[in-house]
Amino acid sequence: MSCDIAVIGLGVMGRNIALNMADQGHKVAVYNRSQGKVDLMMEQVTDNQTVVALEDIRELQLQLQAPRKVLLMLTAGAAVDAVIENLLQALEPGDIIIDGGNSNFHDTQRRWESLKQKGMLFVGAGISGGEDGARYGPSIMPGGDKAAWPLIKPLLQSIAAKTDDGEVCCQWVGEGGAGHYVKMIHNGIEYGDMQLIVESWQLMQVIGFNEQQIADAFRNWNEGVLQSYLIEITADILQQKDDDGVLRVHRILDSAGQKGTGRWTAIDSLELGAPLTLISEAVYARVLSAYKDERVKAAKKLAVTREAFTGELDSVLANTQDALYASKIISYTQGFMQMRLAAKEYGWNLEYGNIALLWRAGCIIRSLFLTDIKQAFESNPDLESLMMDDFFAEALQRSEQGWRAICSLGIQQVVPMPAMNAALIFYDGYRTETLPANLLQAQRDYFGAHTYHRIDKPDNESFHTRWTGDGIEEKV
Ligand code: 6PG
Repeated sequence: MSCDIAVIGLGVMGRNIALNMADQGHKVAVYNRSQGKVDLMMEQVTDNQTVVALEDIRELQLQLQAPRKVLLMLTAGAAVDAVIENLLQALEPGDIIIDGGNSNFHDTQRRWESLKQKGMLFVGAGISGGEDGARYGPSIMPGGDKAAWPLIKPLLQSIAAKTDDGEVCCQWVGEGGAGHYVKMIHNGIEYGDMQLIVESWQLMQVIGFNEQQIADAFRNWNEGVLQSYLIEITADILQQKDDDGVLRVHRILDSAGQKGTGRWTAIDSLELGAPLTLISEAVYARVLSAYKDERVKAAKKLAVTREAFTGELDSVLANTQDALYASKIISYTQGFMQMRLAAKEYGWNLEYGNIALLWRAGCIIRSLFLTDIKQAFESNPDLESLMMDDFFAEALQRSEQGWRAICSLGIQQVVPMPAMNAALIFYDGYRTETLPANLLQAQRDYFGAHTYHRIDKPDNESFHTRWTGDGIEEKV
């Protein structure tokens, strides 16, 4: 049997990607260290699919057509290095290894460099869409060795999601770790979108909407500018009840998990100097949620008092939609700002309109809104900030009043809304011509002689004031 590709790692994502490939007529070899997962996979294979289970990784050598293509669907980290090491026994120069897991882009960059030395083509492909996406069409963000792209493009594009206009959500992203970087930003944005939704939900509960009104609000929002997979699943979740009629979500422990991609996005923002405030707040919100025991104690000792809300629920509903929309614009603005910085720092030529297209279908953050982002970057590929695009600038202006009202309401009603507030604060900061950083610079110069620039002198001139002495300013 001469297979087109091998999939190694048959967890939920690996198994479903392999079945998706087999559906598309590809002959797939599969391997998993534990036999149980292989058996589970083989039970799902139908007569019109060709899937061959390997007992040993070394069988790849004979079972695959050259150049061999191997897709790793493993937990990020040491397991990927270990399997690559084993694969080197079975593969030859010119063969292709694709890492389809959520690897850290630094690791992908390192593996790409080291496999290049050995003549192997390494691709780090971000894959998004969860179980269903993997099975019926995920968004795929491949990057790494570009020589591999023509060889894997037909196969990867055949299993990827397509937009309603028939565009494929799988395009080459860039060299080295670029594919995994873009997937990391996708996940960061996913964290931000989710946090914005849960903040809105909590505010609506506190001010007195009933369960049905809240579920209906999410359903209605999904018909408008907020149309997205995450809003849609939220509406579904908010209908699900336990047998006693209590919403299932109220029985779920309010301590959020995280596998690391959101944290990596925030860490890289600090490394690059990108103002990724909203996503970082979303990461911290998950972190704080995990302090459950301390929060329970604090809720008693530092008890919240709030006055009953007496305003109009209808206007809160409209304002919340505006606040969600505007905050989402800020979140994507920040994510794309970071990708611009990363492209410069890591030497990638990222195409932002294309990235928006990759996220248009199949992935977790898929939404209508991404069509407008694609449009913005198509009309100006060098757009510094999404907020400066006319369409988004107007949308922000239109939403501002409602957005501000919701942030104020959250503060009055003691509802922690870190992501939504971070968004508004960033918006205000970005459009403030003079920030108080002048005083901050003076403070730095005062205690540490760190010097400052003057607005009335050329940028390359630095000054220091002898603040505690005669107050004389020196050019340094
Ligand atoms: C996707 C998701 C996926 C991610 C999970 C869990 O695009 O399909 O982003 O890659 O692993 O959503 O992420 P956390 O455990 O960090 O929430």
